[in-house]
Amino acid sequence: MTIQLTAGPIPSAGLDPLEPAFQLDPYPYYHWLLRNDPVHLGNEETWYVTRFADVRLVMSDQRFGCASVRDWWEEMIGPGALKDIMRDTMFFEDNPNHARLRSLISPTFAPSRMRALQPKIDEVVDELLTPLAHRGEMEVVSDFAAPLALTFVCELIGIPRSGYEGVRKWSLDIAPTLDLIPSDEEIVAGNAAMGAFTDYLRELIDSRRGDHGPDLISVMLEAAEGDGVDGRPVTMNEMISTVISVVFAGHDTVTNQVSNTVLALIRNPDQMALLRRRPELVDNTVEESLRFDSAVQSNSRRVDEDVTIGDRQLRKGDFVVALMGAANRDPEKFDDPDRFDITREGTKTMSFGAGMRYCLGAILARLELRTALDRLIRLPDMHLAMPEEEISYQRSSMFRSLVKLPVTFDPVPTFPN
Ligand code: HEM
Repeated sequence: MTIQLTAGPIPSAGLDPLEPAFQLDPYPYYHWLLRNDPVHLGNEETWYVTRFADVRLVMSDQRFGCASVRDWWEEMIGPGALKDIMRDTMFFEDNPNHARLRSLISPTFAPSRMRALQPKIDEVVDELLTPLAHRGEMEVVSDFAAPLALTFVCELIGIPRSGYEGVRKWSLDIAPTLDLIPSDEEIVAGNAAMGAFTDYLRELIDSRRGDHGPDLISVMLEAAEGDGVDGRPVTMNEMISTVISVVFAGHDTVTNQVSNTVLALIRNPDQMALLRRRPELVDNTVEESLRFDSAVQSNSRRVDEDVTIGDRQLRKGDFVVALMGAANRDPEKFDDPDRFDITREGTKTMSFGAGMRYCLGAILARLELRTALDRLIRLPDMHLAMPEEEISYQRSSMFRSLVKLPVTFDPVPTFPN
């Protein structure tokens, strides 16, 4: 039973992000919190931070750590392949080791290398969309957004096409265990997938020794076969856990952001028409969609040193959830924040995080999104092909992830047109 504190959606027991109504539409909750209790103590003794400036603080200040989240995660997940591999992920590291692992992989994400992918992104988007354009219908998530995201995450890492199917299946099984709220069955499936993924990657990495290209596996192998990074060797476990972390970071995120953007455009036909009339607004549309309905709604930290936010005192060991989805709708930061407006100028969102953990894949994600949008708006008269009330989201503590998004449009015989 939920008891209302005041007129608003938050029960007296505090916010529970797994509540079905919150999963379906978190934005009324965010507004209530922003107005009434911006640094909120929710259920499970977890702090929820909503204001733009506070979210930026939590995501970038080193008093909010990730290594102490790992201690809690390892206890929850128990023994097995998940724990053995993911104890080395950069997601669960603080400095100095976070900086070391980040510098191990950052050459792969160099802006020049990302921009050089543009012709390949054009090619893959056209290859995926051409048969769908002829058909006049698609399920955006599985027919288009997921294969697009998977292709580029694998391309970047150096996983051959023959591995794509396995990677997709294993990463979908592992994802709930990194989402911090897995069920027992999800932990069992995650351990099995982690075992299989690890065997595959160990063989792939070994086969690439002495055969270096520009991809992530090569960059890591060069460090592993040379002096390591910051005077420390790079282990096989670190390489495997880094690959799996990059798959997790770059796969569902782009899938969800493409799908959320299509839904926002369908729900706002004036903005869809405007983008069709003025395709030069595509970059603005990407930024607005990241703000309006971000694929990543939150990230978690643990307080490593007592800290005050607003008038709230957070103690060492407390959990803190930075609600980026709320920060992106903070009326102190954005005029009329609930309006999806692709003419909004200079939008700076929290969707890629902040500070030393700022998303390494932000350039790639933006290129994929803008190319996808540039082509999708050439499909005329796009509509949702299911009733609005059937729209639903995967249960998640951090992602905003549509279960499916079927659409119809006028078939286009010659595509791209
Ligand atoms: C729309 C798509 C994306 C969104 C919204 C997104 C969001 C984020 C956010 C919020 C963080 C910071 C997490 C934290 O502070 O705890 C992050 C980190 C990261 N992202 Fe992304 N991301 C996206 C796409 C990608 C892609 C395509 C890749 C790679 C192929 C990628 C790779 C990474 C990596 C490696 C990190 C860890 C950085 C670090 O810890 O230093 N992301 N991302």
